[in-house]
Amino acid sequence: MEKSEIHLLVIEDNPADIRIVRELLRHCVNPYFKITHADNLAGGILKLEKEVFDTVLLDINLPDSRSLEGLTEIVKLMPDIPVIILTGADDENLAIESLQCKAADYLVKGKINTDALKRCIKYAIERKHIEEVLAKQQEELQIILDSVPSWIFYKDKENRLLRVNKAFSKMMGMSKKALEGKSLFEIYTREQAEAYWKEDLEVIRSGKPKMDITETAIINNKTRFIQTDKIPYRDSQGNIIGVISFSVDITERKQAEEILKRDKETFERMVKERSQELMITRIELDKAKRLSDIGTLAATVAHELRNPLNTILMAVYNLKRKILDPSAERSLNNIENKIVESEQIINNLLFYSKIRMPNYENFNFYEILIECIKDSKKISKKKVLLKKELEPIKNIFIESDPFQIKEVFINLLNNAHDAVSEPDGLIEIKAYDNDNLLKVCIKDNGVGISKDNLGKVFEPFFSTKSKGTGLGLSVCFQIISLHSGTINIESETGRGTEVSVNLPKKKKQ
Ligand SMILES: Nc1ncnc2c1ncn2[C@@H]1O[C@H](COP(=O)(O)OP(=O)(O)OP(=O)(O)O)[C@@H](O)[C@H]1O
Ligand SMILES: [Mg+2]
Repeated sequence: MEKSEIHLLVIEDNPADIRIVRELLRHCVNPYFKITHADNLAGGILKLEKEVFDTVLLDINLPDSRSLEGLTEIVKLMPDIPVIILTGADDENLAIESLQCKAADYLVKGKINTDALKRCIKYAIERKHIEEVLAKQQEELQIILDSVPSWIFYKDKENRLLRVNKAFSKMMGMSKKALEGKSLFEIYTREQAEAYWKEDLEVIRSGKPKMDITETAIINNKTRFIQTDKIPYRDSQGNIIGVISFSVDITERKQAEEILKRDKETFERMVKERSQELMITRIELDKAKRLSDIGTLAATVAHELRNPLNTILMAVYNLKRKILDPSAERSLNNIENKIVESEQIINNLLFYSKIRMPNYENFNFYEILIECIKDSKKISKKKVLLKKELEPIKNIFIESDPFQIKEVFINLLNNAHDAVSEPDGLIEIKAYDNDNLLKVCIKDNGVGISKDNLGKVFEPFFSTKSKGTGLGLSVCFQIISLHSGTINIESETGRGTEVSVNLPKKKKQ
């Protein structure tokens, strides 16, 4: 805004020159010039300290100051007041020099007219005002830059730092003054500076920013992760004049990310493990539930069936004694066998539903095996060839549950009988004495088991037979496992099956 009154201090020892100035400005009303006069430097400074002036007109030669001394002193004391130098025609070189010493302008005595003087004063004030605004803006910019914790600097196309912020100068351990004007080659190692410069050149040449450049740097002897954005620095016409660089130390963030990643992996692993455990528990629960259902069912079936079966068996026994008709006897034998078969089904069901620990006894294994062979033969109506090689175990006593062991071999032999066909059916039973183990192999030349089914035969209720419960092998597996033994099946469709049982002779503690 234009001032209506300008307060002018004229420091001039020549009364004639003062008079001229007063005369030239006397008729000015817009603005009106209020003139105060001092005839030496000391007097002028005294006035400057007491009153507010808009401009100083300073004679270059005063009684108490020569050359540019007066100017230097006033600029130092009152940097905000524009000082216009008054000089004689022969001092023009000195006047030009005065501009470098922050004089606002100069006027050559004898060549001044009203307009020139007015304009000179107005422009000097205006310029000073613009300078002040600019200086304020610069200061604000620097305050903003210094308030940002990121490292900020911008440099010219010659790789020289134009301005740096406080964080950058602190990180570099150098003052802003020391950094500004320096090339990156002067403050970094050649290798580092070249790497940075290469990126800067890319930005300068392409005119496109490069964002999120992540690199490591050694700061205070520690490796830090730095993330940098490089942006083209343009002048008001849009010409690229350098590069602006923003860098942030992201070490803590990286570390936090690492920890998060690790925690996430651990958490995922834990969830997976827990899910698996849950799944296993669910399967076990399902199994337990099924077992308890079967248990109830088995107990009912056993109770309901065993009594009538026993009555039928007794009746058969009595009839057999009384009837001498051979055809009737055959039928009675059939009934008897079916009753034994039914008993076996009930046994399996009962065993499967309440798997109990073996009741260990010392007994002759051979005798039990022979009993099983006889029983299974009785059950099966098929005429098959039975081959036994049991010599090696003839007198061997083992420590196990005779009732459970019988269950195993009856089931295995029944399966073999079911598998073979007449008239070529062959079942081979071989036994071996292997130090601490007894090995029994039951081999048949029956239908065999397909590859798909072989993996399922030990599962409860898996059966390919129309009247099978699918519990036989499952019971065998449980019993042999409880005795710390192993059971294996090898089979080929159409060729036959071989089941091998390894049983410890002594109870494992
Ligand atoms: N020796 C064998 N030859 C051919 N297949 C066999 C033999 N042993 C077992 N399998 C197959 O394994 C299945 C399961 O046998 P498992 O003894 O468990 O049940 P099952 O004999 O079908 O019925 P269950 O024994 O309860 O009366 C059989 O249905 C059959 O498919
Ligand atoms: Mg069976």
